[in-house]
Amino acid sequence: IRVAVVLGGRSVEHAVSCASGDGVMNALDAGEFEVVPVGITQEGQWVSVDPDAAKLAIGDGQLPQITADSGLSVAVAQNPEAPRLLVTDTAGGTSVLAEVDVVFPVLHGAYGEDGTLQGLLDMAGLAYVGSGVLSSAVAMDKEFTKRLLAADGIPVGDYVVLRAGRELTADERDRLGLPVFVKPARAGSSLGITRVTDWADLPDAVEAARRIDPKVLVEAALTDVRELECGVLADEDGGPPQTTPPFEVLEAGAEGWFDFDAKYLAGESPYDFAPELPPGVAERARELAVRVFTLLDCSDLARVDFFLREDGELLVNEINTMPGLTPKSAVPQAWAEAGVDYPALVGRLVRMAAR
Ligand code: DAL
Ligand code: MG
Repeated sequence: IRVAVVLGGRSVEHAVSCASGDGVMNALDAGEFEVVPVGITQEGQWVSVDPDAAKLAIGDGQLPQITADSGLSVAVAQNPEAPRLLVTDTAGGTSVLAEVDVVFPVLHGAYGEDGTLQGLLDMAGLAYVGSGVLSSAVAMDKEFTKRLLAADGIPVGDYVVLRAGRELTADERDRLGLPVFVKPARAGSSLGITRVTDWADLPDAVEAARRIDPKVLVEAALTDVRELECGVLADEDGGPPQTTPPFEVLEAGAEGWFDFDAKYLAGESPYDFAPELPPGVAERARELAVRVFTLLDCSDLARVDFFLREDGELLVNEINTMPGLTPKSAVPQAWAEAGVDYPALVGRLVRMAAR
């Protein structure tokens, strides 16, 4: 199976995608799969990547980046008998360098995890790993995720949506209370998020979030909660989706929450893969993870994030349809703990997509 691993991309999570893509390429068994690395620059140009030469991992505080220094480009060929993604050399005419069977978009955030790329691939009839257009778009958007989950009776935290130009009203401040989290509606890796403990800091926080997305969410920050997450994986034989046992986010960043640095730059692993939980919580988290995955019509893989309140109630925070797959990320480690190591995980994803 020839698989195009697509990494980088136009979103603010570009560097995280480079590291996730690097992890996936390293884990794909060279005996079974032929990997065709395809980079997307921050500006949106599709280029070839030499994984041996490019520094794709996040290390020593350095953030990797795909740059447009190769003469290669990627085109979708509309051959009705067998649509193919063609990697072509546009510098010297248009000679085809590789035709791929499956696309693995290891992209996080806008233009990659949000249904836009999935739409292009669907139109071209190309097989790909991960959720389809609607699921990707809904899961990327924290407002519509919450609306759909709440409509199905799944508990979510309180929040207010600030579309472009809209401010938080006095009534909404009273209702949410301090602290609040201010987030871009469609982003990830904690980028653009501020924890606000004084209303005087709200305008700057909203502005920071709006630099990423004009639509902003202000969420009530729950105090005394624990953060749990579950990996979800579709079953290869069409059975119900499988889940990892819930793992806990331990490391609080410098500001007391799980920010970008705590996720990717801290030395210690921020996760506990065998947390002590009150009776029944692990089972409920796993059930809810499957319910969210199924409700949003997700495919192949996801990670569902929860808050566990002191009273034992679980709230769903969000679902990620292309969860971080960097060596520091939780999902590959959680599946390895559950008996599916990283090569088995990515191999299963590519095989499912290729069918
Ligand atoms: N958006 C990041 C990559 C995550 O959810 O893991
Ligand atoms: Mg996220």
